[in-house]
Amino acid sequence: MSFSRLLLTSFIVFCLPIFAFGAALLPVDEVEALRDVAKIIGKTDWNFSADPCGGQWGWVDPNPAKRSENGVTCNCTFSNGTICHVVSIVLKFQNFEGNLPTNLGRFPYLQEIDLTRNYLKGTIPQEWGTTQLVNISIIANRLTGPIPKEIGNISTLAIFTVEFNQLSGVLPQELGNLARIEKLQLSSNNFTGLLPATFSKLTTLKDLGIQGSGLSGPIPTGIALLGEMTDLRISDLGNESESSFPQLSSMKNLKTLILRSCNIIGSIPDYVGELTDLITLLISGCSNSMVIDMLLLATEFYSFHINCGGKEATIGGNKYEDDTDPAGPSSFYQSRTNWAVSTTGHFMDDDSNSDTFTGTNATKLSANTSALYMDARLAPISLTYYGFCMGNGNYTVFLHFAEIMFTNDRTFNSLGRRFFDIYIQGKLVQKDFSIQNEAGGVGKAIIKNFTAVVTGNTLEMRFYWAGKGTTRLPVGGVYGPLISAISVTPDFIPPSEKSSSTSTYAGTVVGIVVAVVVVIVLILGILWWKGCFGQKISMHHGIV
Ligand SMILES: *[C@@H]1O[C@H](CO)[C@@H](O)[C@H](O)[C@H]1NC(C)=O
Ligand SMILES: *[C@@H]1O[C@H](CO)[C@@H](O)[C@H](O)[C@H]1NC(C)=O
Ligand SMILES: *[C@@H]1O[C@H](CO)[C@@H](O)[C@H](O)[C@H]1NC(C)=O
Ligand SMILES: *[C@@H]1O[C@H](CO)[C@@H](O)[C@H](O)[C@H]1NC(C)=O
Ligand SMILES: *[C@@H]1O[C@H](CO)[C@@H](O)[C@H](O)[C@H]1NC(C)=O
Ligand SMILES: *[C@@H]1O[C@H](CO)[C@@H](O)[C@H](O)[C@H]1NC(C)=O
Ligand SMILES: *[C@@H]1O[C@H](CO)[C@@H](O)[C@H](O)[C@H]1NC(C)=O
Ligand SMILES: *[C@@H]1O[C@H](CO)[C@@H](O)[C@H](O)[C@H]1NC(C)=O
Ligand SMILES: *[C@@H]1O[C@H](CO)[C@@H](O)[C@H](O)[C@H]1NC(C)=O
Ligand SMILES: *[C@@H]1O[C@H](CO)[C@@H](O)[C@H](O)[C@H]1NC(C)=O
Ligand SMILES: *[C@@H]1O[C@H](CO)[C@@H](O)[C@H](O)[C@H]1NC(C)=O
Repeated sequence: MSFSRLLLTSFIVFCLPIFAFGAALLPVDEVEALRDVAKIIGKTDWNFSADPCGGQWGWVDPNPAKRSENGVTCNCTFSNGTICHVVSIVLKFQNFEGNLPTNLGRFPYLQEIDLTRNYLKGTIPQEWGTTQLVNISIIANRLTGPIPKEIGNISTLAIFTVEFNQLSGVLPQELGNLARIEKLQLSSNNFTGLLPATFSKLTTLKDLGIQGSGLSGPIPTGIALLGEMTDLRISDLGNESESSFPQLSSMKNLKTLILRSCNIIGSIPDYVGELTDLITLLISGCSNSMVIDMLLLATEFYSFHINCGGKEATIGGNKYEDDTDPAGPSSFYQSRTNWAVSTTGHFMDDDSNSDTFTGTNATKLSANTSALYMDARLAPISLTYYGFCMGNGNYTVFLHFAEIMFTNDRTFNSLGRRFFDIYIQGKLVQKDFSIQNEAGGVGKAIIKNFTAVVTGNTLEMRFYWAGKGTTRLPVGGVYGPLISAISVTPDFIPPSEKSSSTSTYAGTVVGIVVAVVVVIVLILGILWWKGCFGQKISMHHGIV
């Protein structure tokens, strides 16, 4: 062995424990820890021949697309700029199939771990309790098991978002020790029990989400103390009465209040109108009702066919009418014939202001009637089709569904679960309907038929999202009811059918009230509360 070779070897031996590479500044233990992270979660494309902090592609995404961040961030100002430490690991949208890394304690300066939208399994490691993490985001994975009580030890933690997993168990009391927590998102999991009483200590909390989390009410009294809260989303409340409507009057900063599937009886307390910062108020499933005035035509109809969300198509001799009106958060569209569609709600989970109320297939469709299924009508909360001027009698309502927004591959796109309820003439005919389960998979068509008894010339078909299933999967704005087509035919021979194709729009216009039972969903700006809403929509209490 030559002297120079020996020199080189000893250089490597002596320098390796400090620096992984000649020019690199990341301590070798953190490099090794990154290798372990890659192994545990299943990441294969990190290039360990390059310096993880050197800004090379693979370690830093030079142009992170809005929803696909992928990078390791270092802080290289330690020891006068001679040593780096990993401060953030963000690996989103990559469908890793492994587990969460347990060894984050080996990154002494790590502040952020974000593994959103992968396909990770297993539990949240209790070892994370010894870290100084600020942000933990593990949204939309397949994680199971309870939240370890050690998470309550992370005194630095500000953001803890674990929604859309299958976490279970009772929330540990120790979470009440998170003295800096600002955002706690637990929605869409399988927890049990109540919110811990210790939550009343979380005075820094601004954003709490527990809808569809399995946690049950009543709303803990401590919440009233959370005066800084800007965003409160709760569902599956227990038995609340008007007097026990959550005491939110101290939440002067509240911008978003969402209460779903609640059992609140009576009216909404006046102080809600005094929450001057409130932008979004959404209260659904309460025993209140909303009244919509609408137009009524004078001609009589005995059938109609709608290609919901799609263009006109003739299938099996029936003309399915165009239903491509863009719709909106509180919209009402009336066809040229005798039906109308109303959508309510904002998609709360997408960042865009322009929600879309129609969807196009993300999967291949096996149906040969795909013209009906390639597009569908969607709504965040409530989607209602009305048939007007129907001759009285019994009708068969055929509802065509196909789950076209999720995929059936091994990606997070396939983790979506959609559930909604179906009401015909105000009667619940199907609870927790899952297109995917009924049709035997995604991209497959299923036709459900129901009998509708029309006595007052009006037919109402309502599809209602009760807060179950996933949201934000595969992207924001994909949840709530979805329907591909509707076909309504009489169970009797119509007397002398007036041709619907030549019907005129000019029939007598009569103002009627259609009481929308089950829901008051009022997506409203605070303007609404201040009385700026038009005469056409009004609200009253009591069940119709
Ligand atoms: C890994 O990094 C090294 C050093 O920068 C580079 O020479 C090599 O091409 C990289 N390999 C890949 C597969 O990118
Ligand atoms: C890097 O770390 C130093 C020392 O902890 C800290 O003062 C500095 O703010 C950090 N820089 C960044 C960009 O986080
Ligand atoms: C950092 O640099 C300053 C001036 O260059 C020096 O006084 C100080 O001792 C250095 N600190 C370390 C930890 O190397
Ligand atoms: C934590 O996450 C928030 C929001 O994603 C981000 O603005 C902030 O910079 C993160 N903080 C750290 C320390 O990673
Ligand atoms: C961490 O949490 C456990 C259980 O909650 C507790 O026994 C322990 O004392 C905590 N450790 C520290 C350092 O706070
Ligand atoms: C939720 O937990 C219950 C038992 O507590 C179990 O029966 C059910 O299958 C779980 N659901 C999911 C989706 O994991
Ligand atoms: C809700 O309260 C009513 C009246 O107080 C009671 O009859 C009913 O059983 C309660 N329901 C539940 C689910 O607790
Ligand atoms: C949508 O469905 C049509 C008809 O089955 C098919 O040709 C098309 O490829 C599908 N789109 C996607 C993105 O799979
Ligand atoms: C769909 O395909 C099946 C079998 O290929 C055929 O029997 C049926 O008539 C087709 N339906 C339509 C509406 O074309
Ligand atoms: C209409 O349907 C209802 C309920 O299914 C049934 O009781 C009634 O007899 C039917 N009426 C006619 C005229 O078929
Ligand atoms: C309606 O659905 C039932 C099954 O739920 C089926 O047996 C029946 O044939 C369907 N009726 C029509 C007219 O398609």
